[in-house]
Amino acid sequence: MEKILVLDFGGQYNQLIARRVRDQHVYAEIKPCWKISPAEIREAGYKGVIFTGGPNSVYDPASPHYDPAVMELGIPILGICYGDQLLTWMGGGEVSPAAQAGEYGKTELSVEEHPLFRGVPRTSICWMSHRDYISKPPVGFKTLAATAHCPCAAMGDDSRKLYGVQFHPEVTHTEYGGAILHNFLFEICGCAGDWSMENYADRAVEALREKLAGKTVLLALSGGVDSSVAALLLHRAVGERLTCVFVDHGLLRKGEAKLVEDTFRPLFGDKLICVDASERFLTALAGVTEPERKRKIIGEAFIRVFEAEAKKLGHVNALAQGTIYPDVIESGKGDSAVIKSHHNVGGLPDVIDFDELVEPLRELFKDEVRRLGETLGLPHELVWRQPFPGPGLAVRILGEITRDKLSRLQEADAIFREEIAAGHPDPMPDQYFAVLTDARSVGVIGDGRAYGDTVALRAVSTDDFMTAAWTRLPYEVLERASSRITNEVPGVTRVVYDISSKPPATVEWE
Ligand code: XMP
Repeated sequence: MEKILVLDFGGQYNQLIARRVRDQHVYAEIKPCWKISPAEIREAGYKGVIFTGGPNSVYDPASPHYDPAVMELGIPILGICYGDQLLTWMGGGEVSPAAQAGEYGKTELSVEEHPLFRGVPRTSICWMSHRDYISKPPVGFKTLAATAHCPCAAMGDDSRKLYGVQFHPEVTHTEYGGAILHNFLFEICGCAGDWSMENYADRAVEALREKLAGKTVLLALSGGVDSSVAALLLHRAVGERLTCVFVDHGLLRKGEAKLVEDTFRPLFGDKLICVDASERFLTALAGVTEPERKRKIIGEAFIRVFEAEAKKLGHVNALAQGTIYPDVIESGKGDSAVIKSHHNVGGLPDVIDFDELVEPLRELFKDEVRRLGETLGLPHELVWRQPFPGPGLAVRILGEITRDKLSRLQEADAIFREEIAAGHPDPMPDQYFAVLTDARSVGVIGDGRAYGDTVALRAVSTDDFMTAAWTRLPYEVLERASSRITNEVPGVTRVVYDISSKPPATVEWE
């Protein structure tokens, strides 16, 4: 099978590059630069190599370098940002610090006529994020593009099929980034583009089968698309050795526990265990108001419940979870900053009573997980369910969580979901829910003054949940939801609509 190597030099976009390659139906593998030598690259039969960006300067002795022998393998290379500068450095060209502050954000790019830029207009917008720049390309390389502050924004040596771009073709802000990657893969590397999600599923099942040979596995099933897809993959790989545990932590949406059980019982039979642990979670959360503490408490309680279930089953070797790539990156694994501790990554306690943790979706983005779900035959309505966070309504009740607040939020949220379903907004938001804020405000009920709660409604449109825009819902839908919530949910006197995008806000309020 044809494949591309994404050689990681510490850039924040390495998974995104791999994903963009997969978008073109070419399989991509990511490897840290210190883990593979040029000889191994040749042996593995890659059709091409992409050097990622990275935060360093090539002149910093501590920055990751690479064996220049890679340039003589006859395998096409595309260096991006730091990868471009590294190619220059390895080839004997010159990289210099920018005289001023560098170039950040959307920038006008002018390109020469070249197969790398087939279908790209002479001028277009690209995304730049660099301080150092290439002041002299290496011998054998021609300059192929420029911006106002970057005399060599792209370069190439056609005889050795080596190319570098200073900008980031993998981010959507680069207008023709997709075309440029496509040209590299198809015009330069000669890929055929015959990779598909079916291949991915087959490979993933095969890899899991090997990794989990003879082992028993317990999966944390939440009923969301991620853990459901992980369950199907694992079920294919280990069959009856998989047990799924669904924990009702008491922080679910109205009707959720029943829905999950009704959906999965026919698929997994008595290999599905449903545990009502609401008392345990709500007791542990009593009096807690700090968002990160709530998440940690829930993460820890989850694991303890699983451990207890595992003990009942005898020895279980592995705990499996449906962690996807945005969970990993946003929980601050690697060098990125912690944004929130998603319970299935950052909230894990240090000591877990399982031999290993299996996360088969760790490299995928949400929309890829959905495509994989369809490939595996997951029912359509499950594949397209809006996501629901592991800590559930705990992160949608600001301040202390009480049973009373929970049931009022469940009602408000159910009303909002009903009104969205009835109103068929176009486009349909990718996620929508109600939040019980801790803001109280004055209202009038009948002839009297009321001092009640404020419910916030949130609806967002997004591809990957890493960024999101607030959805322009029709006023009629908002009006019906607002009027029903203030009429039907006791103690709520005000409803507001959240018009913040991510960033700077996040999707959830906590
Ligand atoms: P944020 O709030 O981080 O949310 O912008 C992005 C997406 O992730 C979901 N989310 C979570 N999912 N465990 C999960 O499984 C969590 O702890 C968690 N926190 C947020 C959120 O609902 C949105 O879809």
